[in-house]
Amino acid sequence: KRKLRVLSGVQPTGSLHLGNYFGAIRNWVLTQHQYESFFCVVDMHAITMPYKAKELSEVTYKTAALYLAAGIDANTSKVFVQSHVKEHAELTWLLNCITPMNWLERMIQYKEKARKQGENVGVGLFDYPVLMAADVLLYQTDVVPVGEDQKQHIELARDIARRFNDQFAKRARPRVLREPNPLIQKDGARLMSLEDGTSKMSKSAESDFSRINLDDDPKLIEKKIKRCKTDSLKGLTYDDPNRPEVRNLLTIYQLCTGKSKEEVIAECADMNFGTFKPLLTDAIIEHLSPIQKTYNELILDRAYLDEVLTKGAAEAREVAAATVSEVKKYMGF
Ligand code: ADP
Ligand code: NA
Repeated sequence: KRKLRVLSGVQPTGSLHLGNYFGAIRNWVLTQHQYESFFCVVDMHAITMPYKAKELSEVTYKTAALYLAAGIDANTSKVFVQSHVKEHAELTWLLNCITPMNWLERMIQYKEKARKQGENVGVGLFDYPVLMAADVLLYQTDVVPVGEDQKQHIELARDIARRFNDQFAKRARPRVLREPNPLIQKDGARLMSLEDGTSKMSKSAESDFSRINLDDDPKLIEKKIKRCKTDSLKGLTYDDPNRPEVRNLLTIYQLCTGKSKEEVIAECADMNFGTFKPLLTDAIIEHLSPIQKTYNELILDRAYLDEVLTKGAAEAREVAAATVSEVKKYMGF
């Protein structure tokens, strides 16, 4: 019996942050051996918003190095860069031609990003979810571990797969395109901005003080935690609707220490930010320290990274090319 397949990716649009880590990458690491795993750096997604061409390749290397430093095992998982496997672009076009516009118009992330872009919204940004569907469907993926924010995109990928199968390959068994399932981790599924506690912690948020990056040094982590939204009230709880920032920081503390929610509730019930912030700072620094040590070595070894990514792309392409060839056959090419 074949192992279930997992695929996930992060855009090389900036340093990875704690949201990417606890919402995605850490779960990849924990489950990678249970599945046949595909982890890509989605550079073609990264160019759907304004970006610096000079930095794209550097950030792509950094992202791949952080995957490995966080514990992705390149011997068993396929680690690769999306643009190295041309089938991602090819399947996107084929799927574009069977995807109704109004399915994309409903996408929340598109609406949020488009609002910020004003008149300069590119076709690529609109089409982002179809590229993501292609990423997933190319590998006959069973499971996609993502943050809460990506759930709608996985549902769209399912809809597109079903539409293709019904329209072009009604009788084919197994179905030509497999419908993927999202795997959403409850704890840390969505970390929020350090500055307001209500918007998503994101690489694309303007302020660097809204997030902790995985490669922030201890001094910077301390500075960011000192700066994040604070009051002087006593008693830190998860469920104060007027202080969403408290829940967010307690969640980060819980994730970094590995304590249970109950333990954190008991520990912090009588604290204020003055006593809590140093604890939180230390917990983050300690959790990130081994990852940063490995990352700092890997990022200097381009030959090794190239070797890993070349091997990963070749392995990925084998599967991807077979899917595209099937799809084209059924579409009449
Ligand atoms: P970003 O929004 O920071 O650019 P991506 O869109 O590249 O991140 O998402 C990469 C992965 O990280 C996805 O699986 C996404 O669900 C997850 N992720 C991104 N931001 C967060 C967050 N604030 N909390 C939890 N998971 C997140
Ligand atoms: Na994003």
